[in-house]
Amino acid sequence: MLQVSTRQALREALQAARAAGKRIGFVPTMGNLHGGHISLVTAAQQSCDFVVCSIFVNPTQFGLNEDIDNYPRTLDADKSLLDEAGVDLLFTPSVHDMYSDLELTWVEVKGITERHCGASRPNHFRGVATVVCKFLNMVQPDQAFFGRKDFQQLAVIQRMVEDLFIPCDIVGVPTARAPDGLALSSRNGYLTPEERVQAPQLHACILEAKARIDAGEMDYAAITAWAKAELEAGPWKLDYFSVCRQADLAPAEPDDRELVILAAAWLGRARLIDNLILSR
Ligand code: PAF
Repeated sequence: MLQVSTRQALREALQAARAAGKRIGFVPTMGNLHGGHISLVTAAQQSCDFVVCSIFVNPTQFGLNEDIDNYPRTLDADKSLLDEAGVDLLFTPSVHDMYSDLELTWVEVKGITERHCGASRPNHFRGVATVVCKFLNMVQPDQAFFGRKDFQQLAVIQRMVEDLFIPCDIVGVPTARAPDGLALSSRNGYLTPEERVQAPQLHACILEAKARIDAGEMDYAAITAWAKAELEAGPWKLDYFSVCRQADLAPAEPDDRELVILAAAWLGRARLIDNLILSR
């Protein structure tokens, strides 16, 4: 696997792949890689001939109260995983490469960013949309791969690409889970052994909510209240648990058919998120 760290080196490395007529797949990450990231790489390899992965801990998507300095950085282990997975090119830019000292241009997607994670993490999605837009402009991939675990992030990126006519196909890859149902995430590393045992409860609550909806329950506010009571009876602090319309992530109405249950909750130091799509 070739590793490059500057835009110029990236351009040169991609030129050869493009000249050879290769279809380029792109997997952006913030490192601290796990099986979920490797499932994105595998999906990219299934439909592309040349897979580019980036590792960049993006400062602009962290809030003032979020500790970017302690974000886990595990570059050597990440490189081994990507190499073993057969990634062709790794791009590891510096903050200086990605942002000028006086950043004047931001990509802001309205509406769908205002609820859920956007409400509890102001400017988070502006940082995500801006950095992903920069990466898509630099790599110019045919396809870019994102986990469905970050459902709202995926919706924001899909919308940005549509609105800005970015010629890249955005692919959502199903959430990779541990055998007990916990969605794989870098944040799972913050869990104590005891919390790790409790962590699958978030997914279990979402499954129970789905079962209630499948059985005909349409009082979504009651489902939210039930989930809050269930989780907060234990060690959790709920951020949100919401039955939404897939199209715009607004709270679902009884007539809506294409739904998604979105949830985020704190367990100790870890803010875990999960979701499930369903049709009625
Ligand atoms: O999902 C992530 O890891 C990040 O938000 C992303 C898409 C790499 C942008 O920094």
